[in-house]
Amino acid sequence: MKFILASVAAFAIASLVAGESINVTIHYRSYCIHCQAFSREQLYPTFNLLGDEILNVELIPNSIATYDDAGNLAPTCYSGENECVAEQYQSCVWVRNYTQAQKILFWACVAATDDSSIAENIQSCIETAEMEWDEISECYQNGDGYKHLIEFNEIQHSYDKEIDHVPFIMYNGVVDYDIETAARAAFLETTCSYLNEKPSSCPTDD
Ligand SMILES: *[C@@H]1O[C@H](CO)[C@@H](O)[C@H](O)[C@H]1NC(C)=O
Ligand SMILES: *[C@@H]1O[C@H](CO)[C@@H](O)[C@H](O)[C@H]1NC(C)=O
Repeated sequence: MKFILASVAAFAIASLVAGESINVTIHYRSYCIHCQAFSREQLYPTFNLLGDEILNVELIPNSIATYDDAGNLAPTCYSGENECVAEQYQSCVWVRNYTQAQKILFWACVAATDDSSIAENIQSCIETAEMEWDEISECYQNGDGYKHLIEFNEIQHSYDKEIDHVPFIMYNGVVDYDIETAARAAFLETTCSYLNEKPSSCPTDD
């Protein structure tokens, strides 16, 4: 109950300052070390500075679209089966109604883990972010995680330009390679450049 009330409050604030909120979409792979570094060193601290009234973050696992023998779109993952398992669990988290703070903490927790144990550490990171393991586990076990991964895959193929590397950062749903490069190098600064009224946590020019 307390959790639901907190979420409602967050939504209300977000809509009050709608002019100064920004959508950020981050395409990533679970086992990509630059994605892990981005999560820990850029997204997590920037989110803590700017907060969820300003940032509206969407995380999209990047898998390769292939078709299986039955002609269905089936994701395969660059680093093999364990990465796909991890990304299915993560997809179950991303589509759920947890707060951004929970999701971003969860990703930073997963990203702090060595590749070989990401799938095994999902549960402890779910618990670190105070999300329900039973619910996420069920989502994975019953195949919903796989479906969500395919849905994310379809989103990635719906843009007018290719998502050609990860991490790949988009603002307000636009694929722009120059802005993407800037955002990857300096996420806080690039995000602040979109805000007319800069919060004190944005770096100043002088
Ligand atoms: C998600 O959270 C919002 C805001 O708290 C709430 O209104 C909505 O009912 C929730 N949706 C689900 C599916 O739990
Ligand atoms: C931001 O995302 C929301 C959905 O989460 C959408 O309704 C809104 O139009 C988006 N704003 C921009 C500027 O892309």
